[in-house]
Amino acid sequence: MKSIRVGTSRPYNIIIERGSLSRSGELISAVTKSKKAVIVTDDNVDRLYSRTLLDSLEKSGIQADVFVFPHGEQSKDLRVLGEIFDFLCEKRITRSDFLIALGGGVVGDITGFAAASFLRGIDFVQIPTTLLAQVDSSVGGKTAVDIPGGKNLVGAFKQPALVICDSDTLKTLPRPELSCGMAEVIKYGMIRDEKLFGICESHNIDSIDQVMDDIVYTCIDIKRQVVENDEFDRGERMTLNFGHTLGHAIESWHHYTDYTHGMGVAVGMCLITERFCEREITERLKKCLAAYELPVSTEAPMDELLPFCSTDKKCASGGISFIVCEKIGCAEIRKVTVGEFNRLMER
Ligand code: NAD
Ligand code: GLY
Repeated sequence: MKSIRVGTSRPYNIIIERGSLSRSGELISAVTKSKKAVIVTDDNVDRLYSRTLLDSLEKSGIQADVFVFPHGEQSKDLRVLGEIFDFLCEKRITRSDFLIALGGGVVGDITGFAAASFLRGIDFVQIPTTLLAQVDSSVGGKTAVDIPGGKNLVGAFKQPALVICDSDTLKTLPRPELSCGMAEVIKYGMIRDEKLFGICESHNIDSIDQVMDDIVYTCIDIKRQVVENDEFDRGERMTLNFGHTLGHAIESWHHYTDYTHGMGVAVGMCLITERFCEREITERLKKCLAAYELPVSTEAPMDELLPFCSTDKKCASGGISFIVCEKIGCAEIRKVTVGEFNRLMER
């Protein structure tokens, strides 16, 4: 078993162990005395993993009910959040009980926000089951739901009490979701760790499972360092958004249909790198992304993407921050006006 301690305002452990889902009851009992929980999950994950989790909780004397919502980003909204609150009331959940997010980033984000706001805050445990959720969204305490005005616009910082990463759960992940997670893994290599990038370069989507545990550990440890340095996203944490401003713009341009977050991030990283870095870096990045079946260009015209960039959360008072990696493993935050950003991107 590997464990990483995250030293945020509320410290917690991340357990990385194959098969740990079936030991969840025991692992959770080590961090809480509570014997009552609600598991929040989506229909796909419920079918695959709720039973194993329930059995393990029961063995540790924890009684749990399961709230299931339809999978997909469209469920990460105020309506489903309201349904979760109603369920928690119905099950008479109190401040000494806790929630468990069992699933990908959608489940983690909405459950985390429910935990941050129900009764002004109750504990929650993250059990991420997608690669993206294991290496990114379950760590660091960002929680949110989408509103018609935009993605992730309503949320809170709420650190979990524990994160349990069982990479065996990734075996059932559909191939495009594995690609999506690999976009974030490659991003960590680009912004912080040339060795990690090299490991990604020497594998492909079919062989990456051989080194999955090490990759998950390395990415989580990078995220730990960044989050410990900047828990509330005022500086260094922005480097995690490499490729994301354009990535979100491309996702929006496609109306989020059949276009995953990872695809957007992959193209976003390429669009920035080809404009600001040497050709060799761009070529290595594109070759690496392509090995994980990720796109490296977009049919969306730049002049149609730029309006989405200026409404992104990462814009503040007319300025826009974006990340450039001139050298693999080194990220730099650049702040320019929206006008300047548009001029730089249109060249
Ligand atoms: P997701 O949660 O929608 O999961 C993707 C799909 O995989 C879903 O259909 C789900 O049912 C299915 N699935 C999950 N685990 C499975 C498994 N083990 N086997 C088979 N199918 C499985 O998407 P995601 O990519 O995990 O997360 C995306 C979300 O994460 C977005 O809403 C994004 O905004 C958010 N996010 C948050 C943060 C953060 O810091 N909070 C960071 C990055 C992304
Ligand atoms: N996924 C970006 C962050 O956690 O800040």
